[in-house]
Amino acid sequence: MKDRYKTQLGRFAAAGQDHVLGFWNQLDDAQRARLLDQLEAVPLELVAELGSQLKDGAAHAAAPELAPPDIFPIARSSQQEAQARQARERGLELLAAGRVGYVLVAGGQGSRLGLDGPKGMFPVGPISGQTLFEIHAARLEAARERWGAPVSWYVMTSPANHAATQAYFAECDHFGLGEENIFLFQQAMLPALDLTGRVLLADPGNLFLAPNGHGGTLEAMASSGALEHAAGRGIEGFSYFQVDNPLVRPADPLFIGLHAEAGAAMSTKVIPKRDAAEKVGVIGLVDGRFGCIEYSDLSPELLEARDEGGALLYRAGNTAVHVIDLDFIRSLTDGGLSLPWHQAKKRIPTVDRAGARVEVDGVKFETFIFDALAASERSVTLEVDRALEFSPVKNAEGSDSPATTRADLCGLFAGWARECGCVLPDADGAGNLPIEVDPRRAEDLDEFRARLCEGLAESGGEAPGHLYR
Ligand code: UD1
Repeated sequence: MKDRYKTQLGRFAAAGQDHVLGFWNQLDDAQRARLLDQLEAVPLELVAELGSQLKDGAAHAAAPELAPPDIFPIARSSQQEAQARQARERGLELLAAGRVGYVLVAGGQGSRLGLDGPKGMFPVGPISGQTLFEIHAARLEAARERWGAPVSWYVMTSPANHAATQAYFAECDHFGLGEENIFLFQQAMLPALDLTGRVLLADPGNLFLAPNGHGGTLEAMASSGALEHAAGRGIEGFSYFQVDNPLVRPADPLFIGLHAEAGAAMSTKVIPKRDAAEKVGVIGLVDGRFGCIEYSDLSPELLEARDEGGALLYRAGNTAVHVIDLDFIRSLTDGGLSLPWHQAKKRIPTVDRAGARVEVDGVKFETFIFDALAASERSVTLEVDRALEFSPVKNAEGSDSPATTRADLCGLFAGWARECGCVLPDADGAGNLPIEVDPRRAEDLDEFRARLCEGLAESGGEAPGHLYR
């Protein structure tokens, strides 16, 4: 321990950050060992660079120029329909041959939703009470059954929820997907800094550490061995999605096929923004490269800008669903990743020099996965139907909350049932209808019609009190 201490004291002193060891004499052995673990993992060169960015205000660079992207639309010309048919074939081949891996980013906690644990453990199934993880797993199982290819599922956690996620996956018997087909890996953490670039402590024995953003997925895939694991399985690209959206369709032959046919390195699914104020990023050309600008970084003029037809000009809402090629991730991570760092200014609870609890203005640093789009020479922007594919759970109440997501799920399934002639009661006050369909039984209207309609007809076309299949 003495040697480790000396090494870290030397490193941090050289960087002008040795205050992090200022309480050493007050710590017991276990606390000292934990602090040394944390210090050893800090990339001090990067911290110095981020600190100097803070000092010279590099974050306030000129606003980038934005242009709408070319979108492969839902309403297609006959030529685009033909292109879609061909792409779907290609996507099916890739899926059936096991060339596609699945990457789920699930580093977040459920605290905003009142859940003390990984966000993926939040129960969102309107009737089944299935958690986000269970629903995603069910979709992957459905894909395995449909395309007959094994599932390779890469799940990114964070140090805050890794152990709990691992335990939950084991408790659920890995959702029947096979433990050997699920690869959990952790994203890295970075210390928060005060506005002068000083590393902040959470308390005398711990750094204040925050996850390094979902851009950290790429580096973590490389450093954890996930990338090589996937390459060993013959995977050529990944379907990437976020834990918060239970409607996501990770095994979409059209998207995967369009991406492959275009020779793209990274592609994105978008939904038309509901209105100018909707809190989604917009996909577009940012200073001439593919990219995404967060709603909070768009000026009111750009948020409201309209095209000739009166529609929002920047309406390509980012669903955070991507296809990303394995070789592209390799090329990005080989020489160390250089995605831009975004700053989130926060009040940060810390300790002063005397060890008293105080709150200071500080900054957390994150990279975003969509900034990798800039390095993709070609990229497909596929428009999808919000009702079929996008209803994230972000807030405890109001928009994008468990209530709206459950209502969206019920609404979708009810639409299928009604198409099949089933009579359903009206939605209750919360917008819920007593119907839920397990993704393993049906993923779309065609499957619902083929597999579940008959059962409905037998029950007189009338949905029983609760219908969960
Ligand atoms: C994100 C996108 C936004 C998009 C929207 C769609 C960003 C900055 N913006 O917004 O463009 O329109 O989703 O729903 O991402 N995560 C990690 N580790 C991290 C940070 C995030 O695993 O360090 C995961 C979270 O578990 C979550 C997801 O990434 O599932 C999204 O992150 P969040 O910060 O919630 O982004 P949003 O503001 O929702």
